[in-house]
Amino acid sequence: MFQLLPWTFAVDTVHFWVHYGLVFLGFLLGGVTILVQLSKPAPYGKFDQGNSESWGVTINQRLGHILSDATPGVLLFLLVFFLYGTERQYTNYVFLGLWQAHYIHRGIIHPLVMRYSKAQVPLGITLGGLFPNCIFSFLCADWISSARYPDQYYYDPRFIIGLLLFVFGYVTNKWADLKLRSLRRQKGTDGAGRAQTTFESWGVTINQRLGHILSDATPGVLLFLLVFFLYGTERQYTNYVFLGLWQAHYIHRGIIHPLVMRYSKAQVPLGITLGGLFPNCIFSFLCADWISSARYPDQYYYDPRFIIGLLLFVFGYVTNKWADLKLRSLRRQKGSNGYYIPSGGLFELVACPNYFGELVEWLGWAVGTWSLSGLAWMLFGCATFVPRAAHTRKWYCEQFMEYPRGRKALIPFVY
Ligand SMILES: NC(=O)c1ccc[n+]([C@@H]2O[C@H](COP(=O)([O-])OP(=O)(O)OC[C@H]3O[C@@H](n4cnc5c(N)ncnc54)[C@H](OP(=O)(O)O)[C@@H]3O)[C@@H](O)[C@H]2O)c1
Repeated sequence: MFQLLPWTFAVDTVHFWVHYGLVFLGFLLGGVTILVQLSKPAPYGKFDQGNSESWGVTINQRLGHILSDATPGVLLFLLVFFLYGTERQYTNYVFLGLWQAHYIHRGIIHPLVMRYSKAQVPLGITLGGLFPNCIFSFLCADWISSARYPDQYYYDPRFIIGLLLFVFGYVTNKWADLKLRSLRRQKGTDGAGRAQTTFESWGVTINQRLGHILSDATPGVLLFLLVFFLYGTERQYTNYVFLGLWQAHYIHRGIIHPLVMRYSKAQVPLGITLGGLFPNCIFSFLCADWISSARYPDQYYYDPRFIIGLLLFVFGYVTNKWADLKLRSLRRQKGSNGYYIPSGGLFELVACPNYFGELVEWLGWAVGTWSLSGLAWMLFGCATFVPRAAHTRKWYCEQFMEYPRGRKALIPFVY
C-alpha cells in the first residue's frame, strides 16, 4: 500500500517548532535569494567587477569555500546527526552518506584542487554562503536523523528514484567541475602552456595508491560491511561465508595491493578513480544486499553449487594474487619500474592471468550464491577484463618483438 507520507516524525513540541520554524525560514530565504540573484549575481569569479571590496575584507578563496561549505555541510551536519538525532535505521545512514559524499567533495576536495583566477574572496561572500548553508545543513541533518522511514523503504519508488537521481547528479556535477578545472591546465594558464595529454584529459590527478584505496576499499570493504550489518537481516553461516570471501578479495585488492605494488606512475587521474568507484559502489551494494538478505537452506554446504562455487573462488583468488605478485616481483628483479615480459606458470599461456584469476573468482561467486546479482557482477567483470586483456596482449606484441605470439589474452587456449 503506497503511503503518501511514509515517515514518522515523533519529536517533542520544541523540536517540532524548531524544525518547522526553520522550514518556513528556508522557504523565505529561497524566495529572497532568487529575487536578489536575478537582479545581480554575487560578485565572485567572472562576476567580480573589481568592486568586491564593498563586500568587506577579503580572505583566501580556498579557505573561504571550506569555511562556508565544509563547516556546515560536513561538521555541523555530523554533529546534528549524532548528537541531536535519534533515528538509526539504514535509511538515516544512507541519507547521511549521500549528504557527506557531496559536502566532503564540495567543501574540502573541490576548494583544494580547483584553479581559481583569484586567490582572495570577499569575506561577505563567504558569510553570505555560510548563513544559508548552516540553516539548511541543520534542517536536513535534523530531518534525516529524526524521521523514521518504514523498514521496507528501499523498495519504495521515491527512495529508488531519489537515489538514482542523486547519483546521476553527483557524477554530472563532479565531471563538469573537473572539466572546467582541466580547461585551465590545457590552455596553460597555470603557466606551462603544455599540450593536453590523454592522461590529463581525465582531470585532476591524485596519488595512485590513495586512488585505488578510494575506488576499491571504500565500496568493497566499508560500504559492503555497512550494508551487510546495518541493512541485511540474514545471519546464517552461508551469509558469513560469502561475506568472508568478498572481504578476503577486497581487503587485498583495496588495501594490501595498492600499498605494495610498484606503480610506474605516482599519480592517477581522479576521473579514473571515480570511474571505478561508481560501479564498485553499485555492485558492492547489490552483492552485500543479496548475501545479507537471502536465506539459503541449512544444508547448503552439501549443495554442488556451493562447493563448486567455493572451489572456483579459491582457485581464482590464488591465481589472481599469484599473478599480481609475479608482476610486482618483475620490477624488483630488474631493479627499475619499466615493463618486462612476464614468464612462468599461467603467464606462459595468457597475457593477463591476474584478470583470468579474478574472473574465475566472480564466476565462483555467481555459482555459489546462485544469484542474479552475482551473475551481473561476473558479467561486469567480463566487460572489464575481456577488452583490457586483448589490449594488453596487443600492447605486449607491439612493445616486445620476442613476445611469444602463441599466448592468448585472457583464457588459456581459448581467448
Ligand atoms: N574488478 C574489476 O573490475 C577490476 C578492474 C581492474 C582491475 N582489477 C584487479 O586489480 C588488479 C590490478 O589490475 P590492473 O589492471 O592494474 O593490472 P595490471 O595492468 O596488470 O597492473 C598490475 C601492476 O603490475 C604492473 N605491471 C603490469 N604489467 C607489467 C609488466 N609487463 N612489467 C612490469 N610490471 C607490470 C603495473 O604497473 P603500472 O601501474 O606501472 O602499469 C601494476 O603495478 C588485478 O588483480 C585485477 O584483477 C579488477
